Amino acid sequence: MNVNDILNDKTKTWSIFDREVSKSYDLISDLISLRLYRRWCRGLARALPSQPGLNILDLACGTGLIPMAIHEERSDVEDRYTCVDLSEEMLDIFRRKMSGSTLESQLNIQRGDATDLTLESDQYDVVTMACGIRNVGDTLAGLSEIARVLKPGGAVYFLEPSIPNSRILRAIFLAYFRYIVPAVAGLFSNGDAYRYFNRSVENFPYGDGFIEMIESAGFVRCEMRHFTLGAGALYIGYKPE
Ligand SMILES: C[S@@+](CC[C@H](N)C(=O)[O-])C[C@H]1O[C@@H](n2cnc3c(N)ncnc32)[C@H](O)[C@@H]1O
Repeated sequence: MNVNDILNDKTKTWSIFDREVSKSYDLISDLISLRLYRRWCRGLARALPSQPGLNILDLACGTGLIPMAIHEERSDVEDRYTCVDLSEEMLDIFRRKMSGSTLESQLNIQRGDATDLTLESDQYDVVTMACGIRNVGDTLAGLSEIARVLKPGGAVYFLEPSIPNSRILRAIFLAYFRYIVPAVAGLFSNGDAYRYFNRSVENFPYGDGFIEMIESAGFVRCEMRHFTLGAGALYIGYKPE
């Protein structure tokens, strides 16, 4: 199956990460985002509830950038992390990075499908999902699984690239993502895989469109925060008490 065939079947997008992207994922993420993505991850971490000892589920965890950012921001408290992804290759890189680290003992890293979790209901204070929800085959099934596993009153945090509202910034952003990102990524990885990246961002609802989607999945008090002139967005929603 080549990258273009995979794109026609969204349930297989994880295999692009598994086969084409995993080894260069961190490097390319830093290059194409000019390291802004790490800053957005820390922004997500700072938005979490301040209470210590959170039970956190990170979905589509990839190479672990979100748990690492949360741990950096909250190094004085001991949280517990369950980290789930379908790509064994991404998980292997995450495990290797964590080997011997202070975070390692707080992690439970497992292969799993975010749209069909094998986890018990009502057990997480927080669910995080960065650049993940637009990659799963069935978005509504993913949202419903998140609602199921969160404790009542628990919160979900989605971090996603977004498209700025201003016409000029939007034009710059789209040109960057359509032409420069695949060219730069193609130097280190499969450029087609990163053409998928820009299509997945452009074709997925963002801003109010995504807020409406999470509200219709049952989340309440939903809000959105922007990063870097609207190039990134953090969406937060709560499971009703
Ligand atoms: C762009 S990466 C994001 C990784 C990480 N969250 C980050 O912020 O760097 C998207 C991840 O989604 C994973 N993925 C895609 N579909 C999935 C699914 N149905 N269940 C779990 N993970 C999935 C891929 O394997 C990949 O690791």
